[in-house]
Amino acid sequence: MEKLQVGLIATGGRGAHGFEMHRPEQGIEIVAGCDIAQVALDKFKEKFPDAQTFTDYRDLLKIESIGAVHIATPDYLHEEMAIAALEAGKAVYLEKPMAITIEGCDRILETAYRTGSKLFIGHNMRHFPVVLKMKEIIDSGLIGELQVGWCRHFVCYGGDAYFRDWHSEQRYSNGLLLQKGAHDIDVMHWLMGSYTKSVVGMGMLSVYNRCGRRSPDTPGCAKWDNRQYPPLTQTGFSPIIDVEDHSMVMMQLENGAQMTYMQCHYTPDSERNYTFIGTKGRVENIGDYGNCEVHVWTQRGPRSTPDIIYKLKPVEGGHGGADTPIIDNFLDFVRFGAKTNTSPIAARQSVAAGVLGHYSMRNGNNRQDVPELRKELVEYFENNQVK
Ligand SMILES: NC(=O)c1ccc[n+]([C@@H]2O[C@H](COP(=O)([O-])OP(=O)(O)OC[C@H]3O[C@@H](n4cnc5c(N)ncnc54)[C@H](O)[C@@H]3O)[C@@H](O)[C@H]2O)c1
Repeated sequence: MEKLQVGLIATGGRGAHGFEMHRPEQGIEIVAGCDIAQVALDKFKEKFPDAQTFTDYRDLLKIESIGAVHIATPDYLHEEMAIAALEAGKAVYLEKPMAITIEGCDRILETAYRTGSKLFIGHNMRHFPVVLKMKEIIDSGLIGELQVGWCRHFVCYGGDAYFRDWHSEQRYSNGLLLQKGAHDIDVMHWLMGSYTKSVVGMGMLSVYNRCGRRSPDTPGCAKWDNRQYPPLTQTGFSPIIDVEDHSMVMMQLENGAQMTYMQCHYTPDSERNYTFIGTKGRVENIGDYGNCEVHVWTQRGPRSTPDIIYKLKPVEGGHGGADTPIIDNFLDFVRFGAKTNTSPIAARQSVAAGVLGHYSMRNGNNRQDVPELRKELVEYFENNQVK
């Protein structure tokens, strides 16, 4: 499939990332876009005047010549739309999190397996230079056998982005541990070489429930502005907020290692700060994109004097330079069967840890076990979706 026609399901918000798939010089063209917001369709039409536009994604899926779709609608729509696209024989680029339930992920995986339509999940952090550097260090054996991983996730823009629209309601996102944390849990699974077997969670909504709300008839809209600080001065929040504004989960991995993830939406700064500790050392990122560093300690001594410092240079493009390589990887996978950094099974396992972490924090903080996937399904996806 060297020539490829592409359709975008959601052209606004993250949907604009799909614009990068338009590469006529390589025989890849965006021929259709769907969104329920006129403003998003208008912007799309400006960029792609010859493309068809739709407000119902099912009409886009009826175009037989479309070989691949990019789905970037809100999380609660992923399952329905991905399954419909796979059933229609399209290769699917589906934004993370794969779905908002474990059962939903499993239905997507089963549909991809049965139909043979290709499935790819947009875990772009697997293309972050800082993540790739830490993976290279860990895989080289420099810090020995990994036993523990921690991630502290500071989200200064939490109030701008996640408490004003659909993200703030469990019925649409399940919760922000899943919404945001699916990325980090996936990264940690990847670097630690194993998946979560069981999870325990604690979390609360303790700050953003005290901010000013919009009325139910005013549409929800993210509002990015660094002046929106401190958190309790903010207004315009959703009438319904039933997701946590900080969460903490501990995970037991299948390979015996353990990890923990903490996320807070009302910090003044932003960073995903990972550290992995092995039998011979420790690695940590200082900054997660742009001019950032990876520090490694292989001998005893103060934290202020790492034994090795890797200085990473800024890479052009969205999300620290990860957004173009992930599109390259998807297109090469669809057209030439290339190996992918991301994995649908891993995407499901990050959703499972997120969903069960939420369940635990909302139901007495008890341990929750991840349900197993059937063997044929795992083998199929491990074999790059070849039967
Ligand atoms: N990988 C990443 O770095 C990354 C970054 C941002 C968002 N995302 C993911 O992208 C998805 C969208 O997030 P967002 O922040 O862009 O949300 P958003 O609400 O800003 O935008 C969603 C878009 O989908 C459209 N839409 C909603 N319902 C629709 C429907 N039924 N049919 C067609 N279009 C519809 C909206 O009009 C809007 O244009 C989420 O799943 C999110 O997790 C991923």
